[in-house]
Amino acid sequence: MKLFLDSADIEEIKNGTILGVISGVTTNPSLAAKAGVGGVAAYKLAVQEIASIVDGPISIEVISNNPDDMIVEGRDYATWIDNPWVKLPSSAAGFQAMKVLSMEGIEINQTLCFSVNQALLGAQAGATAVSPFVGRLDDIGEDGMGLVRDIVDVFKIHGIKTKVLAASIRSPKHCVDAAKAGAHISTIPISVLKQMAKHPLTDIGLKKFNEDWEKARKG
Ligand code: E4P
Repeated sequence: MKLFLDSADIEEIKNGTILGVISGVTTNPSLAAKAGVGGVAAYKLAVQEIASIVDGPISIEVISNNPDDMIVEGRDYATWIDNPWVKLPSSAAGFQAMKVLSMEGIEINQTLCFSVNQALLGAQAGATAVSPFVGRLDDIGEDGMGLVRDIVDVFKIHGIKTKVLAASIRSPKHCVDAAKAGAHISTIPISVLKQMAKHPLTDIGLKKFNEDWEKARKG
């Protein structure tokens, strides 16, 4: 399972990629706003800077709500960087835009997916990846990871090539569960990446190794 960073914050992305384990980035309008990125021109600059840091697909989300405008936006985004994934919502308008843009060879990240049926529609419309939102389903008392499992299973049964990208990941456990469920990618906030790298026994072990080494060195 590949790991993407879920962020539009340049410093965060620099810090996250230094580990050498990040293969892509997902952005959305909320993440852009959180990073102080306002307006299309600023979004374009931020995405281009992200693409200069990360060697992998960068998801760029459309702002429009109707298919014609989504298509115009998607075509524009596709010229911004070498490896764009245009993020389109799991809505009737989104599926229409997905079909047109995917037929033009543009890679699509189907976002805001909350059901297997939405994932099936996205796959038919040519989505490169579908993003089930785990945390947001958990937030309303549903089983977010169950949805990831179901989509992986259904795609396997039918030989569907669309990748399953576990999104709205809130904890290291989500990440393990997404990997066990067979997700191809998890997109994670930097806080989760930091937690994944840490274990108290690793810290204790390192301290002990250093102390023993010093003791032996001093005789
Ligand atoms: C990624 O593509 C999604 O936009 C993101 O994971 C949503 O996460 P959130 O539910 O924590 O906002």
